[in-house]
Amino acid sequence: MALLLLFTISLLLPPASCSSFSNTNYYCDWCPRHSTASLLPPAAAMAMAKEEEINGGPHVAAAGAEFFRDGAGCGACYQLRCADRRVCGGDGVKVVVAAGAANRTAGFQLPREAFAAMARSGMADQLAALGDNVEVQFRRVPCEYKKKNLTVRVEEGSRNPGQLGIRFLYQGGQTDIAAVEIAAQANHTPPSWRPMARLRRRLWRTTRAPTGPLRLRLVVTAGFSGKWLRAHDAVLPADWRPGQEYDTGLRVTDVALRTCSCRSRVTGGSEELR
Ligand SMILES: *[C@@H]1O[C@H](CO)[C@@H](O)[C@H](O)[C@H]1NC(C)=O
Ligand SMILES: *[C@@H]1O[C@H](CO)[C@@H](O)[C@H](O)[C@H]1NC(C)=O
Repeated sequence: MALLLLFTISLLLPPASCSSFSNTNYYCDWCPRHSTASLLPPAAAMAMAKEEEINGGPHVAAAGAEFFRDGAGCGACYQLRCADRRVCGGDGVKVVVAAGAANRTAGFQLPREAFAAMARSGMADQLAALGDNVEVQFRRVPCEYKKKNLTVRVEEGSRNPGQLGIRFLYQGGQTDIAAVEIAAQANHTPPSWRPMARLRRRLWRTTRAPTGPLRLRLVVTAGFSGKWLRAHDAVLPADWRPGQEYDTGLRVTDVALRTCSCRSRVTGGSEELR
């Protein structure tokens, strides 16, 4: 398995500055920061696509520790464009972080199509020829899943009741999922919420799932602000099964109020999102 989480500590990068960025073609909102992009090895790309790719969603990418953030960065969307404007053009490519990059790779690792999407038309080969660690500008952007509610997929290996692993799909906005709790649907007593643990990537797990139907609530954060979201009805039916997807009825669209300051150097305390 090439895509292993090899880091337990997120690296903190120095705060980004826009003031040193001289190309006036970029509007302030871009506030591009700099990283690198490499090609994801084909086998790893295939494994990840199989597990993570969502039709009509952004391309999937593996990310180094500073973006993967020990799993918390999973589901975050970034727009990347390679800095070499001779071969790259347009808006670049939007990716969603789906895994941690193996082997202490920093920056982003992209499947071939996503990598090629940064190139000007007809220039994909020239871009590929630049090799690994191509310099890119990036910004975090809201994930957009048109007409899709936040959905959970029950992982293979789950056993009803007891062992429950879930993965979130269609996590919109500029959000991180910071906590997940489940409770049996109870009509007359207050629900008894039990935390799930983040296992890896987008996977949350408990070995103590009560008998369903199960309700779900979660904390989503966008920048520094967080809030509880609670599905009104049970999300998982009593007979939930591995491999099935269940609509939470929730839409997550929060964006950070401010993703960077372009007027002055950011000196901490900002809501800048990684
Ligand atoms: C790390 O990279 C080296 C050399 O490229 C390779 O031999 C090794 O298998 C890689 N390890 C992992 C865990 O991917
Ligand atoms: C999303 O959830 C709402 C309930 O909150 C539901 O009415 C709607 O049909 C759902 N949308 C989709 C696309 O499933």
